[in-house]
Formats: sequence, structure tokens, C-alpha cells
Amino acid sequence: MTTTLHATDVHPAWLPDAAFEPVARRGAVLVVPDGAARAGVDTDEVLDALGAEIDALGPYDGEPALLLELSGGGPVEGEESFRLRRERGRLTVTAGSSRGLLHGFFHVVRLGDAAFTGPDADESHAPAAALRMLDHWDNVDVHPVMGQVERGYAGGSIFYADGRVREDLSRVRAYARLLAAVGIDRVAINNVNVHAREARLLTDDLGEVARIAAAFRPYGVRVHLSVSFAAPMTVGGLETSDPLDEDVRAWWRAAADRVWEAIPDFGGFVVKADSEGQPGPFAYGRDHADGANMLAEAVAPHGGLVHWRAFVYDHTQDWRDRSTDRARAAYDHFAPLDGRFAAEVVLQVKHGPLDFQVREPVSPVLAAMPATRLALELQVTQEYTGQQKHAVYLGTAWSEVLRWRPWGDAGASVADVVAGAGGFAAVSNVGDDRFWTGHPLAQANLYAYGRLAWDPALDPVDILDEWIDLTFPGAPDALRAGLHLILDDSWRTYELYTAPLGVGFMVRPGHHYGPDVDGYEYTPWGTYHFADRDGVGVDRTRATGTGYTGQYPEPWRDVYESLETCPDELLLFFHHVPYTHVLHSGTTVIQHVYDSRFEGVERVERMVRTWESVADLVPVDVAVRVRERLAEQLRSATEWRDQVSTYFLRKSGIPDEHGRTIY
Ligand code: GCU
Repeated sequence: MTTTLHATDVHPAWLPDAAFEPVARRGAVLVVPDGAARAGVDTDEVLDALGAEIDALGPYDGEPALLLELSGGGPVEGEESFRLRRERGRLTVTAGSSRGLLHGFFHVVRLGDAAFTGPDADESHAPAAALRMLDHWDNVDVHPVMGQVERGYAGGSIFYADGRVREDLSRVRAYARLLAAVGIDRVAINNVNVHAREARLLTDDLGEVARIAAAFRPYGVRVHLSVSFAAPMTVGGLETSDPLDEDVRAWWRAAADRVWEAIPDFGGFVVKADSEGQPGPFAYGRDHADGANMLAEAVAPHGGLVHWRAFVYDHTQDWRDRSTDRARAAYDHFAPLDGRFAAEVVLQVKHGPLDFQVREPVSPVLAAMPATRLALELQVTQEYTGQQKHAVYLGTAWSEVLRWRPWGDAGASVADVVAGAGGFAAVSNVGDDRFWTGHPLAQANLYAYGRLAWDPALDPVDILDEWIDLTFPGAPDALRAGLHLILDDSWRTYELYTAPLGVGFMVRPGHHYGPDVDGYEYTPWGTYHFADRDGVGVDRTRATGTGYTGQYPEPWRDVYESLETCPDELLLFFHHVPYTHVLHSGTTVIQHVYDSRFEGVERVERMVRTWESVADLVPVDVAVRVRERLAEQLRSATEWRDQVSTYFLRKSGIPDEHGRTIY
């Protein structure tokens, strides 16, 4: 058992053997009192995983300093909570379920020596939100345009090869262990764009999906499937997918019955409907509550969930039409449906109103649906943030979203909104690459996602310290300092050299890597910057623009509406302004465009130098891979700087006041 736990041909990420040393040295023991409550078969498997973890620490003769105790009383405060007591250097972790115990065990591993050396303590731990999911945009087959993993930058899928589920799933089990160690509890295993081949996962391939579920189960991670709204027609042979049609409803009920029969702890379905060509209820004149509730009815008897995505907009917009605003779409479609969704429906809302840009305001949908179970959707895979060629630590960006207060300082935060029965979903950045994530430093993003979903109040820079301690055990101060220098501010660095002041996109169409300022300007996708010789930006005000600012509650609807109060970093998201408009920072928009692009590249040059000064302190394979990626980041950042600066010099005719070379 232990050999599959420590897959040797892949990078151990945050679970190298050395991370377990502080626990192994002191010994750990698992205590399952006779008659202890067991919450079902899957719980026993988690207990087995925990047993294997303890066994893998090796034999210990003395008095163990870590006691992992399944309490007899059953889950007290929720299945995943645990209690940690420290008395004179001896730790007791107690939980009412083996899932809670597993979280407690990895909590101790994460703390390392510090877990044992602190003062006496008695603490309770529980996740902030029930749902902490990763979505894999993996295809079974290799898609001719998107490849095997849509927006994947770390090789092929860890689940599928040669047109089927992989024979050897030991890597999936190792992945489950990594996820459990950061508190992730659900994984959707196929792309939200469901092609014909993936649609069959729900029918012909259930046995294979069950094998994947079995690989995740010991670590307490549940499997979900993305399904197509048209499945009753495409795989069921019906004439319609109308959610109010009784045959269609019966088909979904039977489909759900079959899934749960094969996989009793199956999590549920993820649905992208009426979005970017995916089928949905609009074709039948029904709304998204009709669609989602039909699926809710099918999963309800099994305790399952329907993750219904709010990413619905018109992707065939006429660029000449300045009144339609893609940013408005999710709110316009979903806010009126608040209160109509069944209890099993989780509305999954992207963090911004557009599409995972480096900077967007927080989606107003999150503040508009108090009677709906909401999940915040983040993108760990770096589609628009450097595609795992650029070192961009996203923990800081996500933390900003989580701390943002839609109703002003005295009101709830986004983290509060999704806490409790709702939660988090994020697009995974993992593939079959040796480092899991292509860029070794992109592992920090996966780590941070899990940790923030468990506890959104964590400081993202502290999370980096945890990740450094685990991934580079015994890291010397110089390495720690170097990694912080490279990563802490890397999200802002990326923002500095790409699309300015929140305007977004300017990426190459299709693959979305590298600059193309007008790449999307005259397309149907609804992502425009409207630059002309006088100015740039999108007027989303109520006074003269698309009215999007009106989707926010007070105070933000007015803060964003007014040029006086709109934050600089979102200026061009909300306003169309002349190039000579003076920012709160005191500089003009055009000069900011030049200054920030040059500063961005200088910062990347500094990242390269910093890496060279610490590369000797990490294993050579990591050193080489990061060096290679940083060289590409510098090339790409320079290209961004030159294209964006040149574009705006040509449009505006206003030279750089520092006289730097702009082409
Ligand atoms: C982005 C991405 C697509 C993806 C979509 C989604 O638009 O480019 O590849 O399918 O998001 O979230 O569904």
C-alpha cells in the first residue's frame, strides 16, 4: 500500500517524505475505540488511508507523541471538524469521523515540529465551507484544438489516456492524497464542455468512473461528473431535453440512479448550460431554475448536488452594438431567479463578471442571491495569467476577492457569502507533467486554493511560507527570501505588463497567450476595450454607459460610478476616459500605461536574477525547469510591454515623458 502512496516518478509537491519526519520521529498512533461511530463504508476506507499513513511513518518503539482518536460519539460539529489538544508536547487529535481525523493528521504534518513544541492548547478546527471542489477540464480524447486538457498547461490528463480511463490510477491516488492534505474534498473529472466521448462517462463508462472514484475515496475526496444538458437526446435517444418534459425528467432520474448504484458516495453533476455553444433550457423557452431543478430532483434521493454554472452570456454579440454588455449577463440571467433553486443546486459563480482576467471587479451575482446556495469559482489553471510559463502566485488575488465586502465595511465579505453550505470550485492546474503543474512554482497556487477554501481568512503570504516549508523541507533563509521575492507580488507584476487598469483581455485569440491588443476588438465575444485616438475603456456607468454599476449594492454602485472614487486598478473596466485623465496616483492614463509596462519587465528581470541567486538551493530538476520558464516569462513580458506601449503611443500620439524606446 505504501509504495503507491509515494509515487517516485513524479514530484512529491508538498508531501515529500521529509515533511512527515517531525511526526515520524515522535511516533503516531491511530486509536479507534470499540464501538466508535462509523458514518458508512467510505468512512472505513478513509480510516484505512489514515492507517496506511501511520504505517508509512515506520515502526516506533517509544510512547507516541501523536494520538489520532476517532471519538465514539459520532460527528459532533460536522463530518470534517477535528479537535487538537497539546499537553506537554503530546498531541491528541479527536474527530467524530475519519474524514475529520484525516484533516487533523495533515494539519499536524503541516505544522511540523511546531505542532509539538508550542504551549499547551485545546483548539477546534472546521472548514469555513462545506464544498471545496476542483474542476478538471479534461477530455477523454485529445481535442483537435484544445488538446486533452482544455486550458491545461501541464501535459495530458491524469485520468485518461488512449481514449479511455487509465489502467494505472496510482497517480490519481497520489493526487487524492495531495488534495486531502490541503482540505479539498471534491473533484469533477471531465470538461464542462462535454463532447460526445465524455458524455458516455455517464452511461457506458460508469464502471470506469467508479474506478476513479475508488482511487479518490481513501482520501475522502468525492467524484463529480460534468454532464451535457442535451444528454437525454445525445446518449438517451429522446427527441427533446426539455426540462419540463416528463420523459426527460424520468431519464435523468434513471441516469442518477445508475450512477449512485455504481458509486454510492458520488458527489453530483456540474453543468455548463446555454453557454458558449453548450445546450441548455433556453432552447425550450425554460429558464435556468427549471433546468437546474430538474437535475436536483434526480440527485436528491441520493444526497447529491448539482453545480450549475452562472457563466451564461451571448458569445455571438455584434461588436458594433455598444449597449450589450457581457459583464451584465450573469446577473441579468440569474439574480431574478433567487429563491427558485432547489436545495441541491449550487450556483457556481466566476469571481469576476467576465472571465478570470488578472483584474476584474468581484461579480455582483455574489451579492444578489441571498436565497441561493453559492459557490465562488476560481481558476487555478493560469489561462489568462501566464499559462504556467509565468510565475504568478494567485493566492493574493483570491484573498482580495474573499475579503471584499459587497455591502461596505460593516457588511459581510465574499467569504461570508459562500461559507456554510456553499463553498468553492476552481479549475485545476494539474496534468500528467512530472511537476503536476508544469511550472514547479505553480504548485503554490493549487496549495493556496485548498488552504483558502478551508480558511479564507488565512494570509496568502503565510500560506506561501507553509508551502515552502513543506515543499522545500529545511529551506535555508536565502531560499525562503528568494521565493517570497519572486512570488509574493507576482500577480501584481503580471498585471503591470499586461492589459492596463482593469480593461482585460488584449490576449491572442484562441489560445489566450501573449499580447494582441485588438485581438478580440472586432469579434463576437463581447470583450472590448474601445481604444481610439482620444481615449480607452468601457463605459459601464448608469449615467452614460451600460448601467452595469447598478448591479452592485451601496456603496459600490456609487464608488464605481464616479470617476472621483473608482479605484485606479479598475478605472478602464468602468469608464471610458481620455489618455490625459489623471489617476489617483497622480499620473495620466497614458503615462501609467508606459510606466507600468516598463516596471513590469524590470520586476521580471529581478525575478530572473533572484532565481539565479537561489537555484543552487533547490533540487536540480526544479532549478532547471524554473529557469527555463522564467526565461520565457521575460521574453513574453517584454513583448507585452512593447506591443501595448507601441499600440497606445500610435493611438494617442502622446510620447513617454521619460523618453524610453517605444516602437
Ligand atoms: C473560458 C475558457 C473556455 C472555458 C470557459 C468556461 O472562456 O476560455 O475554455 O470553456 O471559460 O469557463 O466554461
